[in-house]
Amino acid sequence: MMIAPSILSADFANLAHDVKLVEEAGAGYIHIDAMDGQFVDNLTFGPNVVKALRPHTKLPLDCHLMVENPEKLIPAFAKAGADIISIHVEATKHIHGALQMIKQENVSAGVVINPGTPVSAIEPILSEVDLVLVMTVNPGFGGQSFIESTVAKIETLNQLRKDKNYHYLIEVDGGITDETIGQCSKAGADVFVAGSYVYGAKDIKKAIQSLKDAAQHE
Ligand code: DX5
Ligand code: ZN
Repeated sequence: MMIAPSILSADFANLAHDVKLVEEAGAGYIHIDAMDGQFVDNLTFGPNVVKALRPHTKLPLDCHLMVENPEKLIPAFAKAGADIISIHVEATKHIHGALQMIKQENVSAGVVINPGTPVSAIEPILSEVDLVLVMTVNPGFGGQSFIESTVAKIETLNQLRKDKNYHYLIEVDGGITDETIGQCSKAGADVFVAGSYVYGAKDIKKAIQSLKDAAQHE
């Protein structure tokens, strides 16, 4: 299991420092939320920020693109040093082609589903992906409450992975705390994004450890 702190809740004026902090505290990935003000009502980072952060950490950069027509940005994120690029099935008319584009860049390809999107919407491309990101809040902002109805989708994805011998990781994102992580872990999730729980904590190392403990005790 891995904790992926989301720098959406970090200090934007001290990103390199805040990335180092979570690396030293036992994070597995750095989660980077790219938002375009169209797919979601918020604006954040583009490829330039990924490029600027790349030399500051050895951890994989897990780029979550909340943008319309992600095809336009995939090459730039890849060139900037993204290790994983995840795109929303709701954001493109050509999800299969867009995932192929990511793989052609030699970057791990992830597909994301919003809380209102069923697993069936991505079933035809599950054999193609390295990661499935299940949104456990509606995308756009940190600090929202976990949506319980998403847990059944984690279970479905875990079951499909076993039945069909797929190799994707299951990642969850939104409202992850020491109280919500257990049920996601039990349902089969492997990677846990946490923004406000980690960066809002007085002791970041303790916060990451408490997430790991709560996930493993399920
Ligand atoms: C929301 C983002 C999340 C966000 C999670 O659109 O995708 O990665 O940072 O924040 P928390 O953990 O505070 O819910
Ligand atoms: Zn995210």
